[in-house]
Amino acid sequence: MRIYKATDYNDMSRKAANVISAQVTMKPDCVLGLATGSSPIGTYKQLIEWHREGLLDFSQVHTANLDEYKGLTKDNDQSYYYFMYHNFFKDINIDMANTNIPDGTNPDGEAEGARYDQVVRDLGGVDLQLLGLGRNGHIGFNEPDEVFPKGTHCVDLQESTIEANKRFFASADDVPKQAYSMGIQTIMMARKILLIASGEDKAEALYNSLCGPITPHVPGSILQLHQDVVVVADEAALSKFNL
Ligand code: F6R
Repeated sequence: MRIYKATDYNDMSRKAANVISAQVTMKPDCVLGLATGSSPIGTYKQLIEWHREGLLDFSQVHTANLDEYKGLTKDNDQSYYYFMYHNFFKDINIDMANTNIPDGTNPDGEAEGARYDQVVRDLGGVDLQLLGLGRNGHIGFNEPDEVFPKGTHCVDLQESTIEANKRFFASADDVPKQAYSMGIQTIMMARKILLIASGEDKAEALYNSLCGPITPHVPGSILQLHQDVVVVADEAALSKFNL
């Protein structure tokens, strides 16, 4: 595991974009695993800028997103499909047919999980998986639990996650209570993982994930077992480390 310390959110975003840019440049038809939330927005902005400058070509790239709220349609402005389209896909030359996100409108969680894992397998697996980190240590929407969930599955979101995400909705009551998420096995099968974290409120989860015991109570701790993890985090998120 390599840890890169960034000064702040913008520096983290530029460094993370560099890792993704290197992946796309070295393997133009790569499969990128993507995340939503506040953490990757700056990274996507930087990649868009480099694309506009003619430095990055996404025409052969395929993507597979980590998660989607259950029950939300693609045109719902809180869906992760909407997020990805408006924060990234619409501004790069990706073929939308090459983008994949769990289908929030499929009411059958088991069928959707099996379908999505097959999509990822058919792509030949993920080359580079971008991850944010929840304040409770979740990755994707794999919440702290007694076991590590394996494949893509339906998750009951924890109160703390609903609280953290309510800033994107009119109220906490509007936050969907369930989501579809890649499981830990799906995430761990990615050939390379890029974990990004910014801000003091991620410091404890980041420390516990990278230095604490490997336990499903801190889902991010499983990353200690992956052979190729790059962490890009800012000083505030790394404040519990002696770096
Ligand atoms: C998003 C995702 C989540 C977020 C995490 C951090 O697709 O899978 O695990 O990465 O909740 O969210 P932010 O970046 O908003 O702090």
